[in-house]
Amino acid sequence: MKTACVILAAGKGTRMRTSHPKVLHPVCGEPMISFVVQLALRSKFDPIVVVVSKQADEIRAFLSARFHDRVRFAVQDPPMGTGHAVLSSQDALVHHTGKLIIMYGDVPLVEPADLTALKKASNGVAAAFISVRLDDPGGYGRVVRDELGCVVRIVEHSDATKQQRMLTEVNAGLYCVDAGFTFQTLRKTKHNNAQGEVYLTDLIEQANASGFSVRGVERSNAMNFRGVNSRVELAQAEKIMNRRLLEQMMKSGVTVVDPDSTWIGPNVRIGRDSVVLPNCWFRGEVKIGSECILGPGLVVQNSRVGSKTHVRAHSVLEDCRIGDGARIGPFARIRPGTNVHSKAQVGNFVEIKKSVLGPGSKANHLSYLGDATIGADVNIGAGTITCNYDGVNKHPTIIEDGAFIGSDTQLVAPVNVGKNATIGAGTTVTSDVPKDALAVSRVAQKNIEGYAGLKRKRKIKKNNPPK
Ligand code: UD1
Ligand code: CA
Repeated sequence: MKTACVILAAGKGTRMRTSHPKVLHPVCGEPMISFVVQLALRSKFDPIVVVVSKQADEIRAFLSARFHDRVRFAVQDPPMGTGHAVLSSQDALVHHTGKLIIMYGDVPLVEPADLTALKKASNGVAAAFISVRLDDPGGYGRVVRDELGCVVRIVEHSDATKQQRMLTEVNAGLYCVDAGFTFQTLRKTKHNNAQGEVYLTDLIEQANASGFSVRGVERSNAMNFRGVNSRVELAQAEKIMNRRLLEQMMKSGVTVVDPDSTWIGPNVRIGRDSVVLPNCWFRGEVKIGSECILGPGLVVQNSRVGSKTHVRAHSVLEDCRIGDGARIGPFARIRPGTNVHSKAQVGNFVEIKKSVLGPGSKANHLSYLGDATIGADVNIGAGTITCNYDGVNKHPTIIEDGAFIGSDTQLVAPVNVGKNATIGAGTTVTSDVPKDALAVSRVAQKNIEGYAGLKRKRKIKKNNPPK
């Protein structure tokens, strides 16, 4: 029989102090709800219903774009508590009987093993939930057990007595319940509590009252169940998730010199024997090959890097591709749409935008290359600038294989430099250069002999004007 899943995401997120839905705040670059949905998908729950509030266009847009029709939506209008939220999913689950997993969209660190334990505990009971022990249980619902250790109820922090607040076993926010029992019970659940809400957690006490059995399964990995209610908790979740992802990466054969200062996301892949030096930041879809040296101090976003490539200190790579054996940086900026081929070199203070740098080509110092297609084995001299923008439009520059661009050249686009052509240093190229040609545009040098003496004489004259 199928297990359905409801993910609650309609809460106001008051403690977060935000104008955006709380569950869209990113953890390691990925909206936190995305981790919950992905876990549900991986667990093959079907259907998966996300409960959202009426003003949840942002959440819907994100989830629909990311997961298409693999998630359904239910609207809770207005949000009146977690129990009321589950009740709102009823119509979306009319055809479902049997087990229902309930997860909160603001608890992003749960792992598959947690769900396995929960499902196992749910056999033969109307409702099972996960509990953990916390040294500082503030804010969480406390698990009240009787002298035999059986769960009596979950009492919310704001409703708990002083004595109950001292309980350190808390509700983790993960449930596996019988759908029929749950909807039937929640329909009758009152909201006479401190927050005036219909609490999902009241299900436990009501099950006991109606003679159904419940089970709280205690897990020792409390970290996995941290709820994100504030910016402080958001930063804590990020740190835990980041460490988890880095450990997976290290296990796969990547050296991470300083995990505390390295930040990655769930879609960052780095190959074996690559070394990540301190202070690197990887975001989005990143794929890097093996035996690379990365950093220190890189920013890499949505980019692909080949193998045996060295991306040196303080470079920024964004939406670009870098080939095998390339040398980038230090202090290089590779902007979107750029393709640096294998064994090419991009050195310090070089910015490249929407350009191709062919195999073995070099741009090693102080340059701007924009909208340029550069062939193989081209040398771009220090201080070369493609003047790609005329104030209205962007224009392309083409530099063919083997060309040599002298230092301090300006290439006024659109312009084409032919194969093996040479541009003399300091040239402003305004028209195409044929293959094999030399182009020089600067004024020829003039030497004035004895100029120093001439200058001295002028100075003496100036200081002793005729009387
Ligand atoms: C909840 C639990 C608490 C548990 C904690 C674990 C209840 C009443 N309390 O408290 O026992 O220890 O989680 O993290 O369930 N939501 C809705 N609609 C609503 C209200 C909330 O969809 O009307 C969603 C929120 O978007 C959020 C989730 O439910 O994703 C949990 O709500 P939240 O207000 O954060 O509950 P907690 O106070 O953290
Ligand atoms: Ca919460």
